[in-house]
Amino acid sequence: MTDLLLLPGDGIGPEVTAQVRRVAAKLIPELTIDERPFGGTSFDQLGTPLSDETLATAKAAKAVLMGAVGGPQYANVPRDKRPEAGLLGLRAGMGVFANLRPALCFQPLADASTLKREVVEGLDFMIVRELTGGIYFGSPRFIEELPGGGKRAVDTQVYTTPEIERVARVAFELARGRRNKVTSAEKSNVMDSGLLWREVVTDLHRREYADVALEHILADNAAMQIVKNPKQFDVMVTDNLFGDILSDAAAQLTGSLGMLPSAALGLPGTPGLYEPIHGSAPDIAGKGIANPLAAILSFEMALRWSLGRPDLAARLYAAVERALESGARTPDLGGALTSEQMGDAVLAAL
Ligand code: NAI
Ligand code: MG
Repeated sequence: MTDLLLLPGDGIGPEVTAQVRRVAAKLIPELTIDERPFGGTSFDQLGTPLSDETLATAKAAKAVLMGAVGGPQYANVPRDKRPEAGLLGLRAGMGVFANLRPALCFQPLADASTLKREVVEGLDFMIVRELTGGIYFGSPRFIEELPGGGKRAVDTQVYTTPEIERVARVAFELARGRRNKVTSAEKSNVMDSGLLWREVVTDLHRREYADVALEHILADNAAMQIVKNPKQFDVMVTDNLFGDILSDAAAQLTGSLGMLPSAALGLPGTPGLYEPIHGSAPDIAGKGIANPLAAILSFEMALRWSLGRPDLAARLYAAVERALESGARTPDLGGALTSEQMGDAVLAAL
């Protein structure tokens, strides 16, 4: 059985996952690592962005780490064969419904933020975004012509009690291992799905997680608070749409795309899907200068949530911090190191 399945994907994906492979081999020499084509690379080789074999291997692994997919060369490929379709298919096939998006401030990069140092220094909060429900998937969904001219477009937000409860559970469990606080964001003032969201989270909290501090916040206020005083948050749980937007805003509080990991988790005991939040970066692909830290930190999350090694995760996190302290920087951080040299710096710090 494969412990870690690497899906390098397209563009800079192979360049950053190559560094993950080195770090993983150093931390756990006995870890079995498998690799499969994915996204555009898989389309080129196999005619599909996600083959049945790749999905089966992913479901049987302990953790899956994806590099990035997409690129201008796939712009004219039919929608269901696009690299992004492979990613949606993988997420759906693996049943990963909770997307963990950390907003982190590495001490040596505190001045790289567009916000004041005191606002972001020491920042460490986690957004848990519901990933497989809500308005991106609800039906009915269509665009129709109106008899009098013009059109009408419909999207539908749908959430059920079990969908809300299972993602809220992930948030409460996470908070217990952190600063023990959950903030639940919705729009219960104007949306029925928001009302149900608040009701289900409140009920689960009362029944099973009364030891965790829970607060409710309206999603628009959450957006304001994230840029005003982000350190008030520990874990924020929210739906797919609000989570998409709030997590992108939170991630950018501290700077470079090349630094930001993510995890997508399903039910306990099923493999997690880990990926840097950046894309395939066609503008720098093939140059060997992509920042591999987002991918390496995604592996850090895999150690914590799927591979049962929080101890090694903590070591890896500290090593990344030490590498940055020593001045290691790829061009996106204002330095001149190659991806491989950044990998070297992390290995040296380990
Ligand atoms: P992108 O994240 O690929 O790049 C945006 C900018 O950030 C570029 O200037 C790029 O060079 C830079 N950048 C990104 N990652 C970096 C890293 N690790 N080190 C240094 N610089 C980095 O977003 P963009 O350009 O909008 O999309 C490019 C392609 O990637 C598109 O085909 C898009 O669909 C796809 N994409 C894929 C995602 C995924 O695989 N999950 C997520 C976002 C976009
Ligand atoms: Mg987004």
